[in-house]
Amino acid sequence: MTDEQQAQEAAEQKKPKLQTPPGFHDILPKDHEYFTFVKKVVRHRARQAGYRRITTPILEATEVFSRGVGESTDIVEKEMYTFEDKGGRSMTMKPEGTAGICRAYIEHGMKELPQPVELYYIEPHFRYDKPQKGRFRMFWQFGFEILGESDPALDVQCIFIAYKIFKDLGVDQNVSLQINNIGSAKSRAKYVEALVNYFIGKERSLCENCQKRLEKNPLRLLDCKNEDCMILSELAPKFAQYRSKEDADFFRSVKEFLDELGIKYTENEKLVRGLDYYSQTVFEFWDSETGAQNAVGGGGRYDGLMEIMGGEPTPAVGFAVGIERLIENMKKNGVTVPSKDDVQIFVAQLGDLAKKKCLRLIDELRDRGVRTIGALGKNSFKAQLRLADKFQVPYALILGITEVRDGTIIIRDMSKGQQRYIKMDEVVDEVVRLIGKDNLDMYSPGEIVVA
Ligand code: HAM
Repeated sequence: MTDEQQAQEAAEQKKPKLQTPPGFHDILPKDHEYFTFVKKVVRHRARQAGYRRITTPILEATEVFSRGVGESTDIVEKEMYTFEDKGGRSMTMKPEGTAGICRAYIEHGMKELPQPVELYYIEPHFRYDKPQKGRFRMFWQFGFEILGESDPALDVQCIFIAYKIFKDLGVDQNVSLQINNIGSAKSRAKYVEALVNYFIGKERSLCENCQKRLEKNPLRLLDCKNEDCMILSELAPKFAQYRSKEDADFFRSVKEFLDELGIKYTENEKLVRGLDYYSQTVFEFWDSETGAQNAVGGGGRYDGLMEIMGGEPTPAVGFAVGIERLIENMKKNGVTVPSKDDVQIFVAQLGDLAKKKCLRLIDELRDRGVRTIGALGKNSFKAQLRLADKFQVPYALILGITEVRDGTIIIRDMSKGQQRYIKMDEVVDEVVRLIGKDNLDMYSPGEIVVA
């Protein structure tokens, strides 16, 4: 065996046997600080704008997506986690949120609610994609959907809420809006015909994927990244020539509203999106560095989807943002989020009586909003203080046999290494003063009513 092979084998042996599957990842506590912050901003902006939260199941009947997202899309053709359940039903782990929400809108008769119905979600999704940077098999999205009305102002409202969130997260300058109008189904059909006519006879110059797309989903030829396909699509007929007056008016209004709100955009006539349900407005949020590769988010109008899903015609618009990609963008641009998990007080104790007293003390401190831990499982005093150091707490409280007898406790300033005695019944107030009112972790259970 060569040195290299030996090193490789040693490295293999070091790896734990059980690992996350390819494309899946753990969200460790440090990353949760970002996730929690993003979710907080999303919930806050959603509530301000009157959106209500919805969660659809992680598993749905496969038909929800094959019908909703479109049989000829990459998602449905190649990327779905589909299996038969024990009852012989074909089930799929949701690859995106919009089709399930339309299913829920129809199933729960949301047509009867005041329109439009405005919903948002923060959910994991699953796509059997090729794992690579920014591309996972399980990823989180937050998304917003406005169902039941058609007006260009609503498309812009969607885009605006995304921008508000990007701004709150400090990435609005690193994300650019790409926008296009792909018209109504009728004008699109005429355009697709022209597109197919143009590409026929040129098949041999197209990549393998696009040769298939030409039959099944010709619009997708426009956003292929293969060099030859790109050169050919440069000269292809442009949709603008086929856009009806109504489509053009709709697009113009969208742009006027964007201008009104001061949202910068790039008109991108090649933007068609990878899901079949769109009509009129389509848009994407691109990372300024990576562009079309790994878009941070995307969405558009989907006026025809509800009918495809078996409901009444119901116009709708929405978008979703990939949370991992968003966090990556935040980190890349040096955005940090406040850590709410740092422990503030460590309680060390010696002796059975002290341990008993600590139980109540720890509880009181926590109730007052002080993030407190106590090493109740450790009896060695030294070990407890070493642990306090590791947690990097600003203060430790130390309760030994003598202090219990005297009704006192020691407060130790960990950075200065100084300590002093204080009366046991004054310690909670003193700690609250030291930590500062603004740094307390107050939990408000809200106004519940117990019948
Ligand atoms: P989408 O463009 O397929 O749209 O996904 C939205 C975002 O989810 C992407 O821009 C990306 O940030 C993230 N994403 C997608 N796939 C992956 C992946 N494999 N790994 C990491 N992140 C990923 C939709 O899903 C539509 N349902 C959006 C929508 C809502 N349209 C109307 N309403």
